[in-house]
Amino acid sequence: MGNEREVSGYYRHPGSRLGYPLFLNGTKHFGYYRADDSPWLWSKALRRMEDKMGKTLALPPGARVLDAGCGVGDVAGHLAGRFGLRIHGVDLLDFHVATAARRARRRGLGHLLSFSRGDYAAPAFPEESFDAVYTMETLVHAAEAETALRQFHRVLKPGGRLVMFEYVRESDDRLHPSAAELFRQLNTWAAMPSFQRFTYGTLERLTSEAGFSDVRAEDISRHMWPMLKCFAAIARAPYAAAKAAGLHRHTVNSMSAVEFWRLRAFWRYEVHSAVK
Ligand SMILES: C[S@@+](CC[C@H](N)C(=O)[O-])C[C@H]1O[C@@H](n2cnc3c(N)ncnc32)[C@H](O)[C@@H]1O
Repeated sequence: MGNEREVSGYYRHPGSRLGYPLFLNGTKHFGYYRADDSPWLWSKALRRMEDKMGKTLALPPGARVLDAGCGVGDVAGHLAGRFGLRIHGVDLLDFHVATAARRARRRGLGHLLSFSRGDYAAPAFPEESFDAVYTMETLVHAAEAETALRQFHRVLKPGGRLVMFEYVRESDDRLHPSAAELFRQLNTWAAMPSFQRFTYGTLERLTSEAGFSDVRAEDISRHMWPMLKCFAAIARAPYAAAKAAGLHRHTVNSMSAVEFWRLRAFWRYEVHSAVK
């Protein structure tokens, strides 16, 4: 049922193993920029995006939270340090979880943070375990977003909040066929079947159908474009060379940077929130 092999293949690929640590210290989400920010100050922008998550969660210190698809745990680390949240992070990949646990200890936040390897669509927690659940750029990878959303609903306490920072896109019938084909290739090669499905309004519908109320979405694309534009500039030459050699399927990270920047009018970076 799952797509663990594809997701794992994408993150174990040298482009991901080298690229994320080199550019973002292993963090795997976009930054949030204000009008006069330098596009190259990535660390500052990353922490701003994490602050945006903290403010959207709007929880008191000590609240118990599930980070679904936690990666190397930098989002959880920032939210624990800045907002005092107690966070459990789940990720498919053992090396992400090991790094997350090591970073939590190094930050002196071991009392607030814990991590385990697992699929967020099958979380090993009793119902009503958490005050909130969040995803930071990971539900796009889900093989079946419906299952994950139902599980998020199950593990949330009544009144608990779900927050998802995710990508959504224009439907194929409103795209030039070449653009539709690019989305299809990128979402296949970067293991994002749910991004392929998340045409505008789809995630809101699925969230409601999973039992959530007060479902909201905010488009913050323009606040992350400066980072995407930097990545596109860096990736332009390697992508052009790979494409000329017919090898771009194997350099999907540079292809994503260039093509998602070029296609930016046809997809959005959205903040979704809902209440159980
Ligand atoms: C783009 S990264 C984001 C990581 C982290 N949230 C961050 O912002 O740095 C997506 C992460 O989701 C994880 N992931 C994808 N599908 C998953 C699933 N079904 N269960 C748990 N983790 C998953 C991947 O292993 C990866 O670490």
